Amino acid sequence: MLTQVPRYHGWSLFGLLSLLVLLMTGLILLLNPDLVEATRSAIRATARTSFALFLAAFTASALAVLVPSPFTRSLVRERRFIGLAFAFSHLVHAILIYSYGQLNPEFWPGRTTVGNIPGSVGYLFILLMALTSFKTTARLIGPKPWKALHVSGMWVLAAVFTYSNFKRIPMSAWYVLPFGLMFSAIVIRLLGKIALKYKRSVRNALLTE
Ligand code: HEM
Repeated sequence: MLTQVPRYHGWSLFGLLSLLVLLMTGLILLLNPDLVEATRSAIRATARTSFALFLAAFTASALAVLVPSPFTRSLVRERRFIGLAFAFSHLVHAILIYSYGQLNPEFWPGRTTVGNIPGSVGYLFILLMALTSFKTTARLIGPKPWKALHVSGMWVLAAVFTYSNFKRIPMSAWYVLPFGLMFSAIVIRLLGKIALKYKRSVRNALLTE
């Protein structure tokens, strides 16, 4: 039987997603006549592409357990490349933040050290997770530390996204939407864990019968 291989998978999927992020950023910068405002819009837009990619990677395993289908299984298979595309999108977010700081000298003095802590911790985890997303580096740190880093990293990033969206709700009620999406993703991930445990215990009970 022929099994259909998705057209974009592995590095080609990473390349496509990264290209789309670059294309979107380029268009925002080109189409807005005010470069300072354009850079700020591009910061927001890359935060959103990162968020979408993060949600896909964060819920992939849970969705494959809760709603098994070729699509959810391919999400699990491509999780590493979706995660790396998320890291790429956030690299663009960082470059834009740096550029915005250069264009608008009031930006960094207007921020507090405490206010920069969640984002900086988030970036530290993105860097560590991206660096250990390759066979050689993953083998170097070993399976247990790898799992600890990647599981805790996903939860740290979920917390940063929850906080980043929550703090913007007073500025615009629209931020309830990403906040709600993040909250739903957390529920899906936890339900997936419970369902997997239940499936495993049923399988073990059947085997020992
Ligand atoms: C020190 C590191 C960081 C700085 C200085 C920073 C800075 C910014 C700035 C200036 C904006 C645009 C704000 C606006 O125009 O309203 C923004 C938006 C955002 N950032 Fe970052 N960021 C950092 C790290 C992160 C990280 C690690 C995450 C998530 C893992 C993140 C998620 C977001 C989100 C969700 C938005 C809102 C996008 C929207 O408007 O929909 N940021 N950030």
